[in-house]
Amino acid sequence: MAKRQIANPTVRHFYPWPLVLVSCISQDGKPNIITIGASSVCCSQPLIIGIAIGVHQYSYELIKATGDFGVNIPHVEQLRGADYCGCVSGRNTNKFEDLGWAPQPATEITSPLIQECPVSLECRIAEVAHLGNHDWVMGEVVAASIDESILVGDRIDPVKTAPVFSFYGEYWSVGERLEGWNFAR
Ligand SMILES: Cc1cc2nc3c(=O)[nH]c(=O)nc-3n(C[C@H](O)[C@H](O)[C@H](O)COP(=O)(O)O)c2cc1C
Repeated sequence: MAKRQIANPTVRHFYPWPLVLVSCISQDGKPNIITIGASSVCCSQPLIIGIAIGVHQYSYELIKATGDFGVNIPHVEQLRGADYCGCVSGRNTNKFEDLGWAPQPATEITSPLIQECPVSLECRIAEVAHLGNHDWVMGEVVAASIDESILVGDRIDPVKTAPVFSFYGEYWSVGERLEGWNFAR
């Protein structure tokens, strides 16, 4: 394998990004959505999810004020809406209304969830790492709601949930199933 040294590594050299929609709400009750590519599980017990959010993002102001946020995983059918939430600011518009989407009341947090997304996780801020132009905001998952039609027993069906990944400025869907975990043992 002939590897080339990259002089200036960028975020695009780490991939793929699972696309999530983070939902939040303003003090005067306007819900908002920000598209986030940089997210990950940080810990499984307790379950903590991290999101990288630009320190000047409007949504971050709202998240800091409530201390919580929703992580919603869109189905590929919500791709246009996900892209919209990633290129328009909610500072001067209501993205839920623009998209005809419904804010779903959460059970444990102030921020709403997105009714149209098959998976919605309620996160309460546990810790924040100040790293540079983005903060890594870690939220403990305190509740989850999942569309019954994508569940097979307790498991999420990867084909039915049809998540979206981002790779080098493009959106990609999940490919074929390869193997189960630990198949090499
Ligand atoms: C595919 C995609 C991924 C993005 N990932 C992030 C991210 O990880 N962190 C971030 O702060 N902004 C990210 N953005 C940019 C925000 O979604 C964008 O600035 C958004 O308009 C901010 O909304 P707001 O002003 O309502 O908070 C992403 C945008 C797109 C299209």
